Amino acid sequence: MAMTNNDLDELKRLAQAIVDPKKTVRDLIPEAVALRDFFERKTNFQFDPSVNIASGETRLDSGLAVSPTIAAMCLRELARSAGFIRGMYQAIGDALQADRPVRVLYAGCGPYALLALPSMALLSPDRVRFTLLDVHQEALDRALALIDAFGFSDFLDDALCADATRYRIPPDQQPDIILSETMAVCLRNEPQVAIARHLLSQAPEARMVPQSVSVEAWLLNPSKEFTFMPAGHTGPIPEPERDRVYLGQVFELSAANVRAWENIQGDSLPAGRVSLPSELEKRYLPYLLTKIVVYGDNGLQDYDSSLTMPRNLRETPAAGATLQFRYILGAHPELAYEVVA
Ligand SMILES: C[S@@+](CC[C@H](N)C(=O)[O-])C[C@H]1O[C@@H](n2cnc3c(N)ncnc32)[C@H](O)[C@@H]1O
Repeated sequence: MAMTNNDLDELKRLAQAIVDPKKTVRDLIPEAVALRDFFERKTNFQFDPSVNIASGETRLDSGLAVSPTIAAMCLRELARSAGFIRGMYQAIGDALQADRPVRVLYAGCGPYALLALPSMALLSPDRVRFTLLDVHQEALDRALALIDAFGFSDFLDDALCADATRYRIPPDQQPDIILSETMAVCLRNEPQVAIARHLLSQAPEARMVPQSVSVEAWLLNPSKEFTFMPAGHTGPIPEPERDRVYLGQVFELSAANVRAWENIQGDSLPAGRVSLPSELEKRYLPYLLTKIVVYGDNGLQDYDSSLTMPRNLRETPAAGATLQFRYILGAHPELAYEVVA
């Protein structure tokens, strides 16, 4: 893989546009598309139809580490990628040090180290350095080859094939930022929570990216979630007038909660309790909504990505029911609930 000066300029141009504070994540879809095309062209990414895209994934005792192919495809989640790149850059800006580079521990870098490369293009190694971890050697090797091709190797403090939930942070390498996007919608199945708990417990002062991931219970009227326009419509599409009832937050992954869970050794974490209204109109169905604050004012809204798609409850509890949630840890992490009243 060879990069020219033009390639470096192209990466800088796209990175600069994506971190522009005057834009919103939704303005940035053209740049995110261009970044996707650029990376996939330069790395010659292609599907082999004879190989399952999940092949090479690993079921860790803290959740699923997705395969290198699926990790590469995360780049195609345009709003997610743009939102995380922006949030990461802003976090570095807030963590800048006068006397040494900001240290970022990037847990689960995937084959593009996607959330680090744009900051490398915009900053210098005396401002920021990265330690990369990925549990899959293939993903790490591909990320290192890309970093090398761009001439960014001086940004690396270290790069290790390791499970982030077992990694011991060297005492003289305390990170200023812990970055990880190892999650699926509703924080299910993948090890984001376990990684945040393990790493933040060793670096309690570090900023976390994402800053928070919360899950809320809502009643949604599915027929009002989208605006349906007649065929042949031209011009702007009006925002949908959604018909929703907020029930309450059921879980939040944040630095404050990680600290509050410090002494919990069991197989689950405490979560919230919500009650349905005593009269439940038929048009409503219960859903869980995932809200992601990547960093500062960079967040992902409902439907922006697979991570923030509303997810319906398996069954509709009776009107007036109270649901007690808990977050189950282990190889298949997820939020579960029982009806308690
Ligand atoms: C969803 S992909 C994200 C890739 C990239 N950071 C991005 O945002 O495009 C998650 C990556 O984290 C890695 N991963 C998952 N769990 C991990 C763990 N416990 N320790 C280290 N790496 C992990 C996977 O192998 C995969 O490459």
